[in-house]
Amino acid sequence: MQIKNRKELIREFIAFYKLKNHKEIPNYPLIPENDPTVLFTTAGMHPIVPFLLGQKHPLGKRLVNVQRCIRTQDIDSVGDPAHHTFFEMLGKWSLGDYFKKEAITYTFEFMTKILKMPIDKLAVTCFGGDKRVPQVPKDNESAGIWKDLGIPEERIAFLEGGVLESDNNWWGPAGKTGPCGPCTETFYWKLKTKPPVKFNPEDKNWVEIGNDVLMQYIKNEKGKFVDAKQKNIDFGGGVERTITIISGLEDNYLSDCFLPIIKKIENMSGKKYLIEKNKKPMRIIADHIKASVFIIADGIIPSNAEQGYVLRRLIRRAVKCGRELEIKNFTKHVATPIFEIYDDYEILKKNKGKILDELEKEEERFLETLEQGIKVFEKLIKGKKSMSGKDAFLLYQSYGFPIELTREIANEKKIKIDEKEYEKEFQKHQELSRTATAGKFKSGLADNSEATKKLHTATHLLNQALRIVLKKPDLFQKGSNITPERLRFDFNFDRKLTNEEIKKVEDLVNQKIIEGIPIVCDFMIPSEAKKTGAQGVFDDKYGDKVSVYSAGNFSKEICAGPHANNTNELGNFKIIKEESSAAGIRRIKAVLE
Ligand code: ALA
Repeated sequence: MQIKNRKELIREFIAFYKLKNHKEIPNYPLIPENDPTVLFTTAGMHPIVPFLLGQKHPLGKRLVNVQRCIRTQDIDSVGDPAHHTFFEMLGKWSLGDYFKKEAITYTFEFMTKILKMPIDKLAVTCFGGDKRVPQVPKDNESAGIWKDLGIPEERIAFLEGGVLESDNNWWGPAGKTGPCGPCTETFYWKLKTKPPVKFNPEDKNWVEIGNDVLMQYIKNEKGKFVDAKQKNIDFGGGVERTITIISGLEDNYLSDCFLPIIKKIENMSGKKYLIEKNKKPMRIIADHIKASVFIIADGIIPSNAEQGYVLRRLIRRAVKCGRELEIKNFTKHVATPIFEIYDDYEILKKNKGKILDELEKEEERFLETLEQGIKVFEKLIKGKKSMSGKDAFLLYQSYGFPIELTREIANEKKIKIDEKEYEKEFQKHQELSRTATAGKFKSGLADNSEATKKLHTATHLLNQALRIVLKKPDLFQKGSNITPERLRFDFNFDRKLTNEEIKKVEDLVNQKIIEGIPIVCDFMIPSEAKKTGAQGVFDDKYGDKVSVYSAGNFSKEICAGPHANNTNELGNFKIIKEESSAAGIRRIKAVLE
């Protein structure tokens, strides 16, 4: 069968790996749980981080899925034929099971047998070594496997360097320490012409369609690379790119993942996509509205903080592009074909009303000030080559222009913005959200440092201690965020805690720390977990079985980990803040000293 659309591609990919004994895991929400290092799921690997680090996955050692992802670091590239903020990633994993030979062979087989890609149109890159880190050698092994499968030597490029920057066919670790290793990437010649004999990865007509990350090392505290006990494979492949090239197209926006959206924009504006100057605004609108639809479906609404701020930026940038095409009040109409393209997503069906409503409200809010803001913008820069930070802040505060949008318009007009001064203004007004957000776009493993593991365990102890001290058995976690420095825990309670209660909670947690209780992880089906009194959300997030972490009889929670091994590793627990977070929700910040 010749694969014709995204649904068939996804179905065939999953079916192929199921035949190779992989178990399908869910397509997880875009907002990662218990991972403070990223705002969005940027790759299929996010939800399985604890298992890459060695925790046993309830479904075994071979996994497969398709994962919805958001990559905000690519936002400025959106407008060309191949970059998106929202995309779907095909993923396969080996958790300490097979390694390079099978991983590469499966990737090759899928491309040539299922996607029917001619070998003559394929090329690969392998890790070429890094002079600064002689400890990790060139990956001749992967290159040899590709050669044995029939990829000619001229189509294998070794990329050197990159170990210290996690670049150029080297992946990770995401933090200072942790799993890492070389990658081998696959490319396809997208033109109808015969590809050049020698593969040049810089030539944009070679499109990267997949990446097998070969996690064979652990970088330790001393900066040394040691052999990992558990060697993993993490494969990611782009749905939009793949379907575009196997459909013989050169522009992702003409594939079935986008075309109905582009058609809708053409209808509304009476303008043609194929006219060069319309392409960029139409692509930005199609991409950004699609990303917004999925972000709202996963529970976020536009705001000035974190994910809500990204959502606001996406919608407002789309609205501004609409102005270029002379359309307004369009976002909810442009969104309608998205529900048809992605009718395999229950969350879209379920939240359709809310999604369209939020888009419309945010567009209206911005339209109220957009025209005036643009006029003010023009006035502020008249006869000048730069804009002060104060003025940029005025555009943000009074006209709702996200700084990124102001920067983009300024770039078009070749005007510089004093961003340092803008930041100062911003801080002064204590809207820290965007700054807090800035560091959170990197992709990869969560911060699973010792410090966060301990704070995670402390969070479980705190949860139970609050329930006991406040005598409220129906007290539950309403939010959690852990950084290496502190934990933050939100729970349902409708008044301020007294100093005495805070002290009692601290004492109880510290008593459990001193008792030295081992932390044990069990797997069970959700109904069993419920019976044992475990806290948590009882749905099928982790497949048939869920992992339950217990600290003796004191605490039991459904949780993906990772955790400390024993409470006695934690140190002294101290609450540094107790405040209101929202109506009926209190927030505690605490540290381990
Ligand atoms: N996690 C790998 C990537 O994002 C597959 O490229």
